[in-house]
Amino acid sequence: MESRQQVLAANWKMYKTKEEARAFARDFLPLLQENTAEIIVCPPATLLAELHDLFSGSRVKLGVQNIYWEKEGAYTGEISAAMAADSGAAYCLTGHSERRQYFGENAAIVARKTQAALEAGLTPIVCVGETLQQRQNGQTLMVLHDDVRASLAGITPQPRLIIAYEPVWAIGSGQVATPADAEEAIAHIRSVVAKIWGAVAQKVRILYGGSVNPDNIGEMLAAANIDGALVGGASLHAAAFAAIANGATG
Ligand code: PGA
Repeated sequence: MESRQQVLAANWKMYKTKEEARAFARDFLPLLQENTAEIIVCPPATLLAELHDLFSGSRVKLGVQNIYWEKEGAYTGEISAAMAADSGAAYCLTGHSERRQYFGENAAIVARKTQAALEAGLTPIVCVGETLQQRQNGQTLMVLHDDVRASLAGITPQPRLIIAYEPVWAIGSGQVATPADAEEAIAHIRSVVAKIWGAVAQKVRILYGGSVNPDNIGEMLAAANIDGALVGGASLHAAAFAAIANGATG
């Protein structure tokens, strides 16, 4: 079986000022133990440059939460992938359910942003997941199939790409998926990637996201196909995110 480097990624969403980010870095770095996992923090774009300095010399990498796909131009309010990279980002979230829900992003937009991220040298973390209604209707595997295909449409096989399976009903709800349900969904996502990308699918890291905390991370990481976690609420707290990062097993 392919061994894949685990990824523990923080999604800070629209939280934290510069002062709060400094306090996080001060508290977090001494708590972080050695292991081989990739540790990523995705702060608001306003904090990228500051955190780039604060995390320099550490193994913590930065991601941007959102980009626009054009390289530059008259797009008031947007930032490009290259600008995010220039501010210290190495990763880029695309397709997060909050972007889909509140900002009207569909899979075609996700694919364009994912492509733009790759072209700028960022590693995309492409988020997919079913709603509660879709799960209750027994549509989970179909939704994931269609969304993975559409979100990766036109993108050449990328071993470094990361996917996050985030069931919408589990995000910020305290209602975590069972490890068995997460494993089933993630194994399915890997099989869909294998259909379009062949053997590269064994290298793609697929994370679980949705109400991950220090108490449930261990059982998630124990599942064969779950290569890490994308963490929202718990990642705002240095001690909690350090405990999650320290829970990596390889
Ligand atoms: P949560 O968020 O950990 O607060 O559920 C996860 C996410 O939205 O990425």
